[in-house]
Amino acid sequence: MIKGIIRLLIICILSGQAALANEGMWLPTLLKKYNIEEMQKMGFKLTAEDIYSVNQASLKDAIVLFGRGCTGELISDKGLLITNHHCGYRYIQQHSSVENDYLTNGFWAMSQQEELINPGLSVKFLKRMEDVTDRVITWKDTIPDRIEQEKIIDENIEAIEREAVENGKYVADVKPLFYGNQYFLYIYEEYKDVRLVGAPPSAIGKFGGDTDNWMWPRHTGDFSLFRIYTDKDGNPASYSPDNVPMKSKKFLPISLKGAQENDFTLVFGYPGSTQEYLPSIAVDQIINQNDPDKVAIRDLKLAILGASMKSDPAIRIQYASKYAGTSNSWKKWQGEIMGLKRLKAVERKKEFESDFTSWVNQSETRKKSYGDILESFKGLYEQLAPYSKANDYYSEIVYRGTDALQLVAKTNPVLRLFGSMDDKQIEKSQKALTVLSTSHFKDYHKPTDRKVFIALFNKYINDLPKEFVPVKLSKLKKEKRDKYLLKIYDKSVFTDQQKYSDLVSTFNEKAKEIFQNDPLFKLYEMFVETRTLNVWPNYAHLTDSIKQVQKRYMKGIMEMSVNKQLFPDANLTLRVAYGKVEGFQPKDGVRYRHYTTLEGIMQKDNPEIYDYDVPDRLKEIYNNKDYGRYADDNGQIRVCFSASNHTTGGNSGSPVINAEGQLIGVNFDRCWEGTMSDIMFDPDRCRNIVLDIRYALFIIDKFAGAGYLLDEMEIVD
Ligand code: ARG
Ligand code: GLU
Repeated sequence: MIKGIIRLLIICILSGQAALANEGMWLPTLLKKYNIEEMQKMGFKLTAEDIYSVNQASLKDAIVLFGRGCTGELISDKGLLITNHHCGYRYIQQHSSVENDYLTNGFWAMSQQEELINPGLSVKFLKRMEDVTDRVITWKDTIPDRIEQEKIIDENIEAIEREAVENGKYVADVKPLFYGNQYFLYIYEEYKDVRLVGAPPSAIGKFGGDTDNWMWPRHTGDFSLFRIYTDKDGNPASYSPDNVPMKSKKFLPISLKGAQENDFTLVFGYPGSTQEYLPSIAVDQIINQNDPDKVAIRDLKLAILGASMKSDPAIRIQYASKYAGTSNSWKKWQGEIMGLKRLKAVERKKEFESDFTSWVNQSETRKKSYGDILESFKGLYEQLAPYSKANDYYSEIVYRGTDALQLVAKTNPVLRLFGSMDDKQIEKSQKALTVLSTSHFKDYHKPTDRKVFIALFNKYINDLPKEFVPVKLSKLKKEKRDKYLLKIYDKSVFTDQQKYSDLVSTFNEKAKEIFQNDPLFKLYEMFVETRTLNVWPNYAHLTDSIKQVQKRYMKGIMEMSVNKQLFPDANLTLRVAYGKVEGFQPKDGVRYRHYTTLEGIMQKDNPEIYDYDVPDRLKEIYNNKDYGRYADDNGQIRVCFSASNHTTGGNSGSPVINAEGQLIGVNFDRCWEGTMSDIMFDPDRCRNIVLDIRYALFIIDKFAGAGYLLDEMEIVD
């Protein structure tokens, strides 16, 4: 009997959807209501108002959404911003060439005049956010049908956003939370003149590379520095030589005290996307179908890219960013599969579902609202499986698998509009395509992409059922198929810079026809057509139905958990995650310490291995022990630490803040054993990986000799 009760208790604790210790990405406006007490119990010394306020400067005013999917934070009153090296990577790469290789050598502006402009990069500050659920879901007693509901929602959102932008002064975004059971309005100020100030060489900023990516122990100096510029009056402005460094109203002081085990930590940033409330059948499909498929496709691609990059330094630079991007999710998915299996995520979700069912069965109204949900999920996900497989293949292979087809896909929209363009618009498109062509071919190596093309398209054709493959290809035998594909690739203007840019420069009706009759363009169209006819209708219909069921499921979960706190899935809006500095036990008999040091870098040093080739200058400093004030109490330079903050992609570059509100680190990764936290969090194994801010200061000062940058920071001993 007692055993039974204990078992029941354990099941309730494990399978409940309420947040576990350190789990959660919380809304900064609701901390007062839910979290601040717990945070203070854990050691936090500030108030909810210090984190987020619209009446006074608060921590939120020092945080930016950096580019399209990272976080950054201000560290001086002159607009100086720190984020990850891998967040600045694209920009560092754009300024790099074999002669001026900032990726390899690093870059340090020795004065503001030397800072580099980055067209296309912008940062956004959140001005304020508010719950607008009542303004979005406006129907009361008579509930319109679903199509009508969506129309009302869209119209309401548009009106709210239109009002909030105040004639273009702000950027406004209304976003659904809890699958559309709530809506929040976010109002941002966007700054478009953001310049590169400094980046360590990749042998520091990306030390360990893809070998160590997602892993602990970690020794990556993953940071880069940027500066926001404004017009003379301090307003956001596009680039102009007359712009001045931003006068930041809030920035983070930097602590030299470091991170001790069990210290409170707060991560404040822009987590991109999580799926914590999926049903068991969806998790099952991720583990057994989606993740393994995507991993296998990328296996092929990465092997080819890797071999080419090894063979030639120029190719290495061309494909550095693409390789990193492709391998990043590839590795994460593998950790995710492992973590979900180890956690028995499917079984846990099933246990929760049986609790949910008991709860539903307690009342007739609940039965009416939620009684069908789990059955519906089952039917829908089973039907979805073949279409989601085809969709994964399409997006991994046709859409983003090869350089050449990406160029086709980017050129296509312009070609489609060509007929309706006037001369001015044609000229504008010509300019856009010229820019596209230059940046595309700069990082294009034909023999490499050609191999990827053959490997991936063969995989597509071999693995998928006939109805998802264009008829022409499904009929061809393997030997003939290779020949056919290669001929298409080699004859295409999309694989030839000269031909492509010639056509762009004579952009007339005839050029348009040549583009559209190009064999690769035709191939692309064949795949798009097959998808449009045979995959998309069912895929879209089923995912939409799943969305509706998931929205009701979420509503039920919220109702069932009225007394517990739930956090909404991440959606690239500003969130707070709190936890503490701690290591973990990845497997039986092994314990990971919570920090790494420069010693570890020297231990990994191996000039033969690209990812572990320690710069001589760093060795010299290490040998001379010239550590200044950046060493810990044992005289060691700490490089990274791990903590138990619930983070995800997008949290890269997020400040890791101590109990006093000072910056102690910059978030950049998660541990392999815990990457399933996007779907299910495990307080024992989910750890975020953080660059110790003292290592960044040490590199800027001692390694790069750019110590003048430290003068504008507020460094607290
Ligand atoms: N895993 C980290 C993130 O998801 C770092 C990625 C960049 N580093 C790399 N070696 N690919 O963004
Ligand atoms: N590196 C990730 C990013 O770019 C953060 C790691 C994670 O997914 O937690 O946002």
